[in-house]
Amino acid sequence: MSNSEGISQAEVSKSVETALAEISKASSIAELKKAKGSILGDGSALAGFSSRLGKLAADQKAEAGKIVGSARAKVTEAFESRESELSAVEEAKLLEKEAIDVTALGRIARTGARHPLSLLQEKISDVFVGMGWEIAEGPEVESEWFNFDALNFDADHPARAMQDTFFVEPTQQKLVLRTHTSPVQVRSMLDREVPIYVLCPGRVFRTDELDATHTPVFHQVEGLAIDKGLSMANLRGTLEHFARIMFGEEAKIRLRPSFFPFTEPSAELDVWHPGAKGGARWVEWGGCGMVNPNVLRASGIDPEVYSGFAFGMGIERTLMFRNEVSDMHDMVEGDVRFSAQFGMVL
Ligand code: PHE
Repeated sequence: MSNSEGISQAEVSKSVETALAEISKASSIAELKKAKGSILGDGSALAGFSSRLGKLAADQKAEAGKIVGSARAKVTEAFESRESELSAVEEAKLLEKEAIDVTALGRIARTGARHPLSLLQEKISDVFVGMGWEIAEGPEVESEWFNFDALNFDADHPARAMQDTFFVEPTQQKLVLRTHTSPVQVRSMLDREVPIYVLCPGRVFRTDELDATHTPVFHQVEGLAIDKGLSMANLRGTLEHFARIMFGEEAKIRLRPSFFPFTEPSAELDVWHPGAKGGARWVEWGGCGMVNPNVLRASGIDPEVYSGFAFGMGIERTLMFRNEVSDMHDMVEGDVRFSAQFGMVL
């Protein structure tokens, strides 16, 4: 082992050993960087050797220079190899953390489902739009005049009574939650030029308790046609066509005499439902009739020139017997599992 006065191989080797131990102890690039400062930076043992070299006599310099130089080279090399080791480890960790398993099964995001009442309402609208009818809408908070008076309801008609109608306070405003879609008939006649062929689907309100077959908020669809020369035959033909699309080619309709203040004559509409659960049968579907001349007059239409027919039915009720929904609660609760059963097409 060669020695040089002032700088011995032994003391340099000792510093190198300490340095190498510290380098191998560093367990991250950050720790390694910190170690580099204390091992090679100003004030480190190795830097101390370098500055002592300068003070040595010329004959000792070469020997000591070799010792210090090789020590530096050894330490630097150790740094570099530890650095590449650590960065490989860190990179592997990062890759693992960011790894995407392209073979993993997708997470199933449950999509919503459209409510069957909306789907049915659209299907009904399509049938009439297909015949050239237009869709009309009216307000749900309606004036008593449109909901009752213009439709020829007497002032003491029982349908106005508290047990059927939600009156909006203060009652002097004479506003109600519309109890049927028939006020849209009057609005359509006032707003539009004859001839009129409109379908009015919408929400209506009655003071019924929610039970298996009733709900205080439900939907109706109203049809109104005003033209020259319209008769019960046109009403019948229109409803039969509608019934066939809704219930199949074997469906037919039957009209039973009835009474509504706004139609004369009036009829209850039954439909022969070929696909009914438990076998084909007649089902009560809605009301209809020829528009009462008083209603035409209240809407500014001359009953001597024009006549019209109207019909109305409940959409919930239609869904109940057409799609075998036995409990109204299912329709109002909004559980997506109920809606999903119907898919996107009814
Ligand atoms: N509006 C009536 C009801 O709610 C139904 C109906 C509409 C009857 C149009 C005749 C004509 O019961």
